[in-house]
Amino acid sequence: MAKSYDVIVIGGGPAGYPAAIRAAQNGFKVACIDSWKNFDGSHAFGGTCLNAGCIPSKAMLESSEMFHKANHELSKHGVKLGKVELDLKTMQERRAGIVKQLTSGIGQLLKGNGVDPIKGHGRLLKDGKVEVTDFDDDSKKEVLEGKHIVIAAGSQPIELKSVAPFDDEVIVDSWRALEWDSVPKKLGVIGGGVIGLEMGSVWKRLGAEVTVFEAMDNFLFMADQQVAKVAQRDFKKLGLDIKLGAKVSKAKANKKSVTVTYEDKSGEQEMKFDKLIVAVGRRPYTENLLEDGCGVNLDDRGFIKVDEECRTDKANIYAIGDCVRGPMLAHKATEEGIMVADLIAGKVAEVNYDVIPSVIYTHPEVAWVGKTEEQLKEEGVPYKAGTFNMAANGRAKAMEAASGLIKFLAHEKSDEILGVHIVGPMASELIAEAVVAMEFRASAEDIQRTIHAHPALAEGMHEAALAVDNMAIHAINKK
Ligand code: FAD
Ligand code: NAI
Repeated sequence: MAKSYDVIVIGGGPAGYPAAIRAAQNGFKVACIDSWKNFDGSHAFGGTCLNAGCIPSKAMLESSEMFHKANHELSKHGVKLGKVELDLKTMQERRAGIVKQLTSGIGQLLKGNGVDPIKGHGRLLKDGKVEVTDFDDDSKKEVLEGKHIVIAAGSQPIELKSVAPFDDEVIVDSWRALEWDSVPKKLGVIGGGVIGLEMGSVWKRLGAEVTVFEAMDNFLFMADQQVAKVAQRDFKKLGLDIKLGAKVSKAKANKKSVTVTYEDKSGEQEMKFDKLIVAVGRRPYTENLLEDGCGVNLDDRGFIKVDEECRTDKANIYAIGDCVRGPMLAHKATEEGIMVADLIAGKVAEVNYDVIPSVIYTHPEVAWVGKTEEQLKEEGVPYKAGTFNMAANGRAKAMEAASGLIKFLAHEKSDEILGVHIVGPMASELIAEAVVAMEFRASAEDIQRTIHAHPALAEGMHEAALAVDNMAIHAINKK
């Protein structure tokens, strides 16, 4: 007889494992099936985020920033160093160690919360059961029965098969590029989105010459364009060569280098690199996941079709995270997992899709939540904008990081905060205040009347909220 569970979760990334833990906390018998395979063939829970995404990339961003600071900034603080040397082996060991600690922690968390962790590939059958192929032996299969099934299969990098197919040596995805054991002299990146900028920054700071090819004419087209312009200026200062409106038509690789053909305003051109990262987005991972006739359908972009509450077309089957519509972000994935586990338990739960923060962990950091000024204009929403220049923030000065800006957008009549956009130091942490404020539907005045510690970067939030009504203290206000 098939082993049975109240809830079976397929996928153990930031969508799946929190869903499994919350379902177990809600008193259910739960299994979490995961098939993540590392380059050495070993298994680890945590999905893309912990193994190949958020965590290792942040570890490398942090380490490369230290190296950059030691080379270029510490002397401004009066800290003199001898010759600064890069020990990439130690840097990479540190990254791998953090990943190992966190991913093995997930296995323990699952077990500790009473979830059955299962290593293997899950497939939804047409009779509603789940077939599990053993992780180590493809010929071993087991069928599980679940009253509720949650699909959290995640995503994979998009490959430009006809232009720049991965060879895993010279033309690679972001995962391979995180684990290089030497710094490429010349690095090309196709895609000037989040991965392109984060990975480009890591290797630039470690000494590579980096060129980013972005097909769109606007830099960071999804971000508020005032903030994007400041970020673009600072990336240029770092030395990233970002080519906008540049379409790569061919990348021809041999074992040691790759020649990229691209076209921009100046016509067709060629550049040669030691390595090329392709970072043009990710696609839902649904390979061998759904048996024909299982009742779960895909939308026209290949994502699993779900409603606002992540219900698929089939009763009692949910899908969450990167394999469904919405931003491909770990925190969005997790919140959907928690929502679904609570809905299954009959609780009231929802995800507020209007208030999901986005962060780019470069230097400067870029973070935003809610609407951009461009979106408000397009939607015809009457608004007031207030910006504060972080050059006037005392803490930022003390940190030798006094650049960037914070921008608040509030409704012209109700004063409700509609969007907050930050470029500058610790934007990833500052944005949390805006997220909480917007979740509580705060007005700009609510932030204006909230006491912020001095000296702190967060005073920039206070000042930007004041600027909405032309009342910032450390600024010359418009009359
Ligand atoms: P995944 O993390 O992809 O997990 C899915 C899991 O399910 C995987 O382990 C997979 O092997 C497994 N699986 C798939 N199919 C099956 C099956 N049939 N049976 C069993 N198991 C299966 N997001 C952020 O919010 N912040 C960041 O800083 C950030 N940085 C990133 C950096 C990089 C380089 C990359 C690539 C991504 C980054 N992301 C970041 C995005 C983030 O990683 C994803 O949004 C997040 O991992 C999605 O979670 P998920 O659980 O939906 O999918
Ligand atoms: P992305 O969608 O952020 O950026 C892809 C970029 O490539 C876009 O700017 C697009 O215009 C460009 N592009 C597409 N095709 C192109 C082509 N042929 N030539 C040149 N440019 C082209 O996708 P990315 O950077 O691959 O990241 C994937 C996902 O991972 C994102 O959705 C993001 O949400 C998530 N992620 C999140 C991070 C974070 O939260 N800090 C960090 C890294 C990834």
